[in-house]
Amino acid sequence: MTQQDIRIAPSILSSDFSKLGEEVRAIDDAGADYIHIDVMDGHFVPNLTFGAPVVKSIRPHSKKIFDVHLMVAPVDPLIESFVDAGSDIITAHVEAGPHIHRTLQAIKSHGVKAGVALNPGTPLETIKHVMPLVDLVLIMTVNPGFGGQSFIPLLDKISEARSMIDAEGRVIDLQVDGGVNAQTAKQCIDAGADLLVAGSFVFKDGPEKYADNIRSLRG
Ligand code: DX5
Ligand code: ZN
Repeated sequence: MTQQDIRIAPSILSSDFSKLGEEVRAIDDAGADYIHIDVMDGHFVPNLTFGAPVVKSIRPHSKKIFDVHLMVAPVDPLIESFVDAGSDIITAHVEAGPHIHRTLQAIKSHGVKAGVALNPGTPLETIKHVMPLVDLVLIMTVNPGFGGQSFIPLLDKISEARSMIDAEGRVIDLQVDGGVNAQTAKQCIDAGADLLVAGSFVFKDGPEKYADNIRSLRG
């Protein structure tokens, strides 16, 4: 069993964009382990968020791990700019193009960690042959594109991903993203997840509640 300590990655998608630096400092102070950054292109997903210049501008506000979730297609032309902006982990969707192996190699060639994400309808089989290249597996429990959606209970998929990671026999984060709250977090942890993304749940009641909200996700 390679399940690690539970870590929480608040998604700044649900933060107040008019004061992004302040929000990043607030979740850092509140105990966030990773800062989850949702990059959307209005093409791979039906929404637009921010690009590498925004990541660069918030980088000085936290020393925590910048966990960049790319919901873009194609991925490869953007990798270098997100590395230069200060990303620590770059996660690409297996559905974003025909060459996930090449994409993961390209991410790793820059010396950052590589993650692979799967939409709810995508079987785990699709990442079987790239497991040696990944540092993080992201199981989406909503269809990507928006915060605040309801959790799709893909608990069997999380358990199966746990088995795949254990079979790999090295440290790989098992991340769940979408509809995570205090109840669903526990289900994900019990199924084998060790890294939980939460947007609306963390940010819902304002900065004075961020620490309590993050704590309540740890199980
Ligand atoms: C969805 C994003 C998520 C999102 C999660 O496309 O990848 O990271 O911000 O938001 P909640 O926690 O509100 O479902
Ligand atoms: Zn995300």
